[in-house]
Amino acid sequence: MTSEPYLPRRSVLYVPASNDKALAKIATLACDAVIIDLEDAVAPSDKIAARDKLAGIFASRPVANQHGRRCEMIVRVNALSSEWGNDDLLAAAKFEPDGILLSKVATPRDILEVGDVLDDNFAPDSVELWAMIETPKAMLNIGAIAELGRDPASRLACFLAGTNDLVKETGILATPDRRYLVPWLMQMVLAARAGGIDMLDGVSNDFRDLDAFARECTEAAAMGFDGKTLIHPAQIETANRAFAPAPEALAQARAVKDAFALPENAGKGVIALNGRMVERLHLAQAEKLLAKAAAIGA
Ligand code: COA
Ligand code: MG
Repeated sequence: MTSEPYLPRRSVLYVPASNDKALAKIATLACDAVIIDLEDAVAPSDKIAARDKLAGIFASRPVANQHGRRCEMIVRVNALSSEWGNDDLLAAAKFEPDGILLSKVATPRDILEVGDVLDDNFAPDSVELWAMIETPKAMLNIGAIAELGRDPASRLACFLAGTNDLVKETGILATPDRRYLVPWLMQMVLAARAGGIDMLDGVSNDFRDLDAFARECTEAAAMGFDGKTLIHPAQIETANRAFAPAPEALAQARAVKDAFALPENAGKGVIALNGRMVERLHLAQAEKLLAKAAAIGA
C-alpha cells in the first residue's frame, strides 16, 4: 500500500469573506490553510458582496513559505438549499481553490451532487471537497459519507467538526471538557480514517483564553485529529505546535528506525527495544511520524 505524502493541516483558520481587515492579513499568517467563509460568518445582507470579493482574494493567493509550502485556500459556500449556495459554488470553482467546504452535509448524495456540478463546470481534479460534520443526520450517515474518500472521483478529502452547530442541533450542554461531544468526535475520527481522509477538530469560541485552547488542542491531537479549525490568528501558533510530532515521540521513532536497521534485526518481525516489544507496524508508524516532522520542518 502506498501512502500519500503528508500535507500539514494543523491550523486551519476561518476568515470571513466580508471582513477586509482579516482578508488583508492572510499572506502574513503561519497557518496551514485558510477557509474563506461565505456562510455562518457572513450576514445575509452581505452574502453577495462577500462572494464578489473572491476574485480579489484569489488574485493575491499566498506564495510558498520557507518550507516550500503555501497556505491552502478553501472556500466555504452556503448550503445548496439556500438562495446563495449554487452561485457561491460556481463562483468559488472558477478560482480553482484547493478545496470547497460544504456546510450542513447530511448524506453521501450531498457530496456527489456537488462533485457533479464541479465536473460539469470543468473544475480541475485538484479542487477537493471538504465537508462540515455538524448535523445529527451527518453523524448517523458518517460511515457512508466517509467511504467516498476511497474514490478519488468524489474529490472528498477532509471532514471538519462543526461543534457549534452540533451543540445547537442536539441540545447537549457545551462544557469545557466537551464530555458530551467527545463520543461523536471520536466517531468522526474513526470514519475519517476508514475513508482515508483528514479530520479537523471544531473551533474554540473563547479565543482570548489561550491556555484553555492549548489544552483543547493537546486533547484533540491525542484523539487523533489532524488539526484544528481556528477563528483567530492568535490561535495559530498553539495549534501548529500541538499537532506537530512531540520531541519525545520523534526520539522514540528514530530509535525504532535505527533498531530495525541493525544487521542482526534484518528480517525480524518483532524485536525488543529498551524492554519493550516493537513490531514492524511500529516501524511503519515511526517512519510516518518522521516523514511528518520532515514535511513541517520540525
Ligand atoms: N482571520 C484573519 N484575521 C483576523 C481574524 C481571522 N479570523 N480574526 C481577527 N483577525 C484580525 C483582526 O482583523 C485584527 O486585525 P488588525 O490588527 O489589523 O486590526 C486582528 O486580527 C486582531 O483582532 P481582534 O481585535 O483580536 O479580534 P476582533 O474583535 O476584530 O474579531 C472575531 C474577533 C471573533 C469577530 C474574529 O476573530 C472573527 O471574525 N473570526 C472568524 C469567525 C468565523 O469565521 N466564524 C465562522 C466559523 S466558526
Ligand atoms: Mg455551521
